Amino acid sequence: MEELAGQSALVTGASRGIGRSIALLLSAAGMRVGLVARSTDLLDALADEISASGGAAVPLPCDICKPERIGTVVEACVQELGGVDLLVNNAGVFLESQLEDLEVSDWEHVLRVNVTAPFLFAKAIIPHMAKRGRGRIINIGSTAGKKGYLYQTAYCVSKHALLGLSRCLAIEAEPFGVSVNTLCPGGVRTDLIAGTHLAKRLVGERMLEPEDVAESVVFLARQSGNVDIPELVMLRGKGR
Ligand SMILES: NC(=O)c1ccc[n+]([C@@H]2O[C@H](COP(=O)([O-])OP(=O)(O)OC[C@H]3O[C@@H](n4cnc5c(N)ncnc54)[C@H](OP(=O)(O)O)[C@@H]3O)[C@@H](O)[C@H]2O)c1
Repeated sequence: MEELAGQSALVTGASRGIGRSIALLLSAAGMRVGLVARSTDLLDALADEISASGGAAVPLPCDICKPERIGTVVEACVQELGGVDLLVNNAGVFLESQLEDLEVSDWEHVLRVNVTAPFLFAKAIIPHMAKRGRGRIINIGSTAGKKGYLYQTAYCVSKHALLGLSRCLAIEAEPFGVSVNTLCPGGVRTDLIAGTHLAKRLVGERMLEPEDVAESVVFLARQSGNVDIPELVMLRGKGR
């Protein structure tokens, strides 16, 4: 098992939901964390919370739809944390729309956040990891990257594309000592799907909690170089 204490991680979408839980759990495991999202106030509050519990965190406010900002944020993270051992591409948006109402601008926005940004973060970080001959990228996919769902065309396409990105990165980055995993959760109790038809369908259903996803991220991050878990699908259990 890999010892995470003393290493550093960059987590996108850290202001709330799953990303916030991931940042807290990685910090509890002893990692320094760079926190990316647009909500500066939430990132500052999280960094304060992590510092108060003895950890180290750097808020890195950024709209990841702006490609030119991503390189700058990665450089700032590398400088502030002394390198990045783990990238967690978690930030994401959800969209539910019938095909006839699906606007190109909305389609492009979903792809920009869910696919283009993870590609650009990986592109900017892999050279830093390669210099040290080690690193890991964990992409937060979805069961929507493994099958289709009604009215989720843009979202499902983006998560299928993210899986394709992960599979290609895994091959290209492996010679540099960089591992790539995709974590594909089913429904998780966050604000992502608030107000959607999907949320209505899930009322009363048991769901995963953000902490469940964070635990799986830590599990993947702790795998030694002898083990490769390219994709991990996680669904809510039946309970005991
Ligand atoms: N919830 C689920 O049921 C579920 C299931 C499977 C997979 N997932 C995946 O898990 C990931 C996290 O989802 P979540 O449920 O935690 O969602 P969430 O609670 O809505 O949080 C989304 C995060 O992404 C950030 N974000 C969105 N657009 C951004 C942008 N343009 N620039 C920078 N940051 C941006 C948000 O920060 P700001 O608003 O502060 O920018 C926020 O921190 C997503 O990739 C999602 O697809 C979720």
